[in-house]
Amino acid sequence: MINFDYKNPTRIIFGKGTIVQTGSVIKEYGGTRVLLHFGGGSIKGNGVYDEVTKSLKAAGIEIVELGGVQPNPRLSLVREGIKICREKNVDFILAVGGGSVIDSAKAIGVGASYEGDVWDFYAAGKVPQKTLPVGTVLTIAAAGSEMSWSSVITNDDGALKRPLDAQIIYPVFSVLDPETTYSLPAYQTGCGIADMFVHVFERYFTAVKNVDLTDRLCEAIMKTIVNNAKRVLDAPGDYNARAEIMWAGSLAHNNLVGTGRIGDFASHMIEHELSGFNDVAHGAGLAVIVPNWMKFVYRHDLPRFVQFAVRVFDVEQDFHNPDETALRGIKAMRDFFSSIGMPATLAEIGIHEKDFGAIAGKVKKFDEVKGTVGNFRPLGPADVEEILKLAK
Ligand code: NZQ
Ligand code: ZN
Repeated sequence: MINFDYKNPTRIIFGKGTIVQTGSVIKEYGGTRVLLHFGGGSIKGNGVYDEVTKSLKAAGIEIVELGGVQPNPRLSLVREGIKICREKNVDFILAVGGGSVIDSAKAIGVGASYEGDVWDFYAAGKVPQKTLPVGTVLTIAAAGSEMSWSSVITNDDGALKRPLDAQIIYPVFSVLDPETTYSLPAYQTGCGIADMFVHVFERYFTAVKNVDLTDRLCEAIMKTIVNNAKRVLDAPGDYNARAEIMWAGSLAHNNLVGTGRIGDFASHMIEHELSGFNDVAHGAGLAVIVPNWMKFVYRHDLPRFVQFAVRVFDVEQDFHNPDETALRGIKAMRDFFSSIGMPATLAEIGIHEKDFGAIAGKVKKFDEVKGTVGNFRPLGPADVEEILKLAK
């Protein structure tokens, strides 16, 4: 295990009927004039908008609205939000929606507190020093942004999708009512499940040795996700299954299971370029990349792939043929993604071989000198292109 410095400051208010607390909790954090930020309208259809605005009004909070966040949230709307916050003296941002809305809110928060251009934080590696406080009411279990230090924004100009990781952008609180997720279309539920699974998976595949406790925590979350995925897809109104999935989504990405180890995250970086390139749903893109990343790298640390197969997917271990056990684990991974309605090939998500070189060239590098991405098995652009070819 390696040294770590861990703090997750986000307060979680979890369960049925908790949205009613939103207004009074915002007041605890000093909010009086709130930017209510949301997406394309699902919250108006499922009653969440009404519940939230009622709670804010009951607490005497002034509301300034900005809806219209698209999946793969755009820089242009972030800039509009920053302008509104300045003009209306907004002192708190409430994101009501999924990862896209929350990430957009985080970007507005740091952008409104900075004199330069907010894109500096995403493209130029500048570290934000101040933010407006951000709270969230989560409506889809997926990205984990409700409890993460990340925000991922797409620059409309050049279709570049870039992450920002910073201590100050953790939301101050997140309200998680599993009932808000009943209205999700099955495909969105599936995309969310794929994403949260991969958040744990990327941390699981580490080159750091002696990480037994976090291995076991990762396995518990991955197994819980697999066990409850079918239940929520079969019965979208199953509260207990929705609750397990919702809390798993936050625990998958609040980095507790990443303590003392270094995760890989190459699949995420490759996927961000697919989303930026063709507006692919993030979870769907991951489901295409991950099994092919596995095929490409599994021999790099065969025992870890065997452990994954046996402990997460209950593959029977073939002691004479570890390769076979690992390959069965990769197949189980692929089958799981298919069982939740996720695509298997790049062609299915509209990405074709002629674009592979360009996509591989754009992937954000972790090591600028070596030009590689990923930590478990660092990959150069040619390796990324091979993975894209396996996934075609
Ligand atoms: O826009 P509306 O109308 O609300 O519809 C949304 C959207 O179309 C819909 N939806 C959400 N809740 C719903 C609902 N529909 C019906 N009922 C509900 N209760 O779902 C669609 C997808 O929403 P989105 O917010 O895009 O989903 P998700 O939470 O998966 O977020 C994806 C974004 O998060 C980023 C991804 O890259 C992507 O841009 N990520 C953010 C991370 C972070 N900040 O820590 C980490 C992740 O790895 C990820 O990269
Ligand atoms: Zn993700």
